[in-house]
Amino acid sequence: MELKVLIILHVLSAATWIGSLLITTLGVLPKAMKQRNPQLLVDFENNFKILQMIALTLQFLTGFRMAMKYAPISQWFATDNAHSYYIQLKLMLLLITILTYVFNRIFVVKKASEANLNQYAIHLILLTFTSVLLAIVGLSFRLNII
Ligand code: HEM
Repeated sequence: MELKVLIILHVLSAATWIGSLLITTLGVLPKAMKQRNPQLLVDFENNFKILQMIALTLQFLTGFRMAMKYAPISQWFATDNAHSYYIQLKLMLLLITILTYVFNRIFVVKKASEANLNQYAIHLILLTFTSVLLAIVGLSFRLNII
């Protein structure tokens, strides 16, 4: 029962996190680049930045708990089984995600201008890419996709 609740929460927050990034990157970013106007991105992202932070925190908490169910923490960095390999990938991608997200919010979004629009775009694309990879690695626990 606990695992079912964890998966539901994990998938709902993944939908929120990945969905918001995909809409920003595929829907708003091309327009902002065309008009060279970062404010379009800032205004759009400000609508759900709290929701994004809640989703990412929930993702981490539920993911951590599920990972403990797949393997005890002492086995997370083992090299002889697929579950440990997926957990290591998840942790590495999560670290990249958090660093990129925090750096972007503090150093790019707050000072968004035409001059750093390209940097803003690179961060968004990187975040979207890592979040899709996190989903593929997550699905691999059951489906062995990678
Ligand atoms: C933004 C961050 C994350 C995203 C977008 C994400 C996304 C996903 C998705 C889409 C699934 C597939 C759900 C399923 O097949 O049932 C999944 C499964 C999983 N995730 Fe994550 N995840 C994230 C972070 C984490 C973290 C930090 C961990 C912990 C190391 C983690 C551990 C797991 C585990 C163990 C599963 C397998 C659940 C199962 O099928 O039993 N995830 N994740």
